[in-house]
Amino acid sequence: MQAAVLLSVLSAITSVSSLVLDVPAEAPQTNILSDHSASNDFIGSIYFMTNQPSGNFVVSASIGADGLLTPAHAISTGGIGGVSHAMPALALDPLFSEGPIAVHERSGLLATVNPGSNTIQLFAVDPKNPTVLSPIGGPAPAGGAFPTSVAFNNAGDMLCAINGAEVGCIQCYSIHPWRGLVPGDMRPLNLNQTNPPTGFANTTTTVRFTPDDTSVIVVVKGDRDVPGHTGFLMSWPVLSVSPATLSANAVIAPAPSIGSIPFSLSYIPGRRAFLVGDGTGVDVFNYQAGLEPGQITNKSIEIPGQIATCWSAYSQTSGNYYVADNLVSTVTEIHVDDQLAPSIARQYVPPPGNTGTNELAVATINGQDFLYLLLPNVTSIGVMRIDGPANGTFVQTLDFSQPAASVNLNITLLMAGLSIYMKDQTHLSRALGPR
Ligand SMILES: *[C@@H]1O[C@H](CO)[C@@H](O)[C@H](O)[C@H]1NC(C)=O
Ligand SMILES: *[C@@H]1O[C@H](CO)[C@@H](O)[C@H](O)[C@H]1NC(C)=O
Ligand SMILES: *[C@@H]1O[C@H](CO)[C@@H](O)[C@H](O)[C@H]1NC(C)=O
Ligand SMILES: *[C@@H]1O[C@H](CO)[C@@H](O)[C@H](O)[C@H]1NC(C)=O
Ligand SMILES: *[C@@H]1O[C@H](CO)[C@@H](O)[C@H](O)[C@H]1NC(C)=O
Ligand SMILES: *[C@@H]1O[C@H](CO)[C@@H](O)[C@H](O)[C@H]1NC(C)=O
Repeated sequence: MQAAVLLSVLSAITSVSSLVLDVPAEAPQTNILSDHSASNDFIGSIYFMTNQPSGNFVVSASIGADGLLTPAHAISTGGIGGVSHAMPALALDPLFSEGPIAVHERSGLLATVNPGSNTIQLFAVDPKNPTVLSPIGGPAPAGGAFPTSVAFNNAGDMLCAINGAEVGCIQCYSIHPWRGLVPGDMRPLNLNQTNPPTGFANTTTTVRFTPDDTSVIVVVKGDRDVPGHTGFLMSWPVLSVSPATLSANAVIAPAPSIGSIPFSLSYIPGRRAFLVGDGTGVDVFNYQAGLEPGQITNKSIEIPGQIATCWSAYSQTSGNYYVADNLVSTVTEIHVDDQLAPSIARQYVPPPGNTGTNELAVATINGQDFLYLLLPNVTSIGVMRIDGPANGTFVQTLDFSQPAASVNLNITLLMAGLSIYMKDQTHLSRALGPR
């Protein structure tokens, strides 16, 4: 088994500097500095990856009953991070992707990409203390170059990864209890990219299973400088879970996107439709008729002043969506009506400003939603309490650079991904979409 390095990242407030280094031959023991597992003082965990070219780590923080975060652990992913280009203005968005980390809560699994070493690592989440991860098997080949996004199916027995560079492909895996990721056949993307990809135009963004697990959808950006090149959606029917097999050929449908940078994919509950962050605005794509060319319709809006609206998340409490623009550093709350038309409900500027708002995730705590935001320009995660539509309040900005430095771990604006595991999983019983 791949040797794993466990570092424990101490809380900025409570901790003493010390490094716990564990190189186990077999499954690693977890090194817990503040042992939450014996108490009920936290109810879930949040994860991001450091994405450092010198070594990639998943960092966890516990989520308290008040929604607030405390730094907890870091574990090596057995690989290295990556940067897709050298444009300083866009260095905040090194992967141009949504979902470099995926969590499947019911099966207690977490998967992460290693963009610089072309591998995917699977972990088991400790259900008693979900800030603690243990690797399942070693890093699995990603099938191509520069993996940037992963997705579990809803059943939790299959994972797909997209590789956005020259050897661009989608690679799916069935999940074996102790060997981990067992690759099936890969399918090429034919995006004519370089390795690593040169820019955000014409690159992949995200991979998601449809809510009924029958297909996999990949979002590919267009190029706003090429009129009419608004990006496209690639989809493959799932033929078998084990071995993980997609149909031989992708269905490729133009994405009717308003900003030509279709990026995120947030399903709209109960509808065959999803919301997409799209550079200068958002789109709602309706695939009620299907995913073939010409079947996908859009209702889209511009968000005034936005240029890099990319990530999105949905809140049950407000019934609205939240999209993040990482260059303008704002979050826009979007309402989607019964006709699937989006409108702006409110905008928020996470403190202290210029945060580089990136990936978002929502956790439900005793019927109350909290929005978590990756803020790479201030090496932080922000927390916003959601009290209803157009009623969000920022309650925390937690900077990870100090607690990380105290255990010799680098966290910079290359940090990426945001996923959540909650101990109480009753929220999972609410189905996302039509089965
Ligand atoms: C990539 O290049 C091939 C061969 O020139 C072409 O058929 C294909 O359409 C190109 N793909 C994209 C997404 O432009
Ligand atoms: C993106 O793809 C389009 C269509 O193939 C092409 O015309 C354009 O030059 C590409 N843009 C970049 C930045 O590679
Ligand atoms: C998307 O929808 C908007 C209106 O909702 C429309 O104006 C626009 O033309 C559509 N975009 C495309 C590429 O069809
Ligand atoms: C990121 O922070 C730097 C200062 O550290 C600032 O100059 C820059 O404008 C910020 N970027 C964004 C997108 O907010
Ligand atoms: C937001 O929610 C809080 C808590 O329920 C409430 O006190 C406040 O009045 C609400 N604000 C608005 C503008 O609705
Ligand atoms: C952290 O980054 C600095 C420079 O940015 C580098 O010199 C150092 O080796 C890095 N440390 C680790 C542990 O990656």
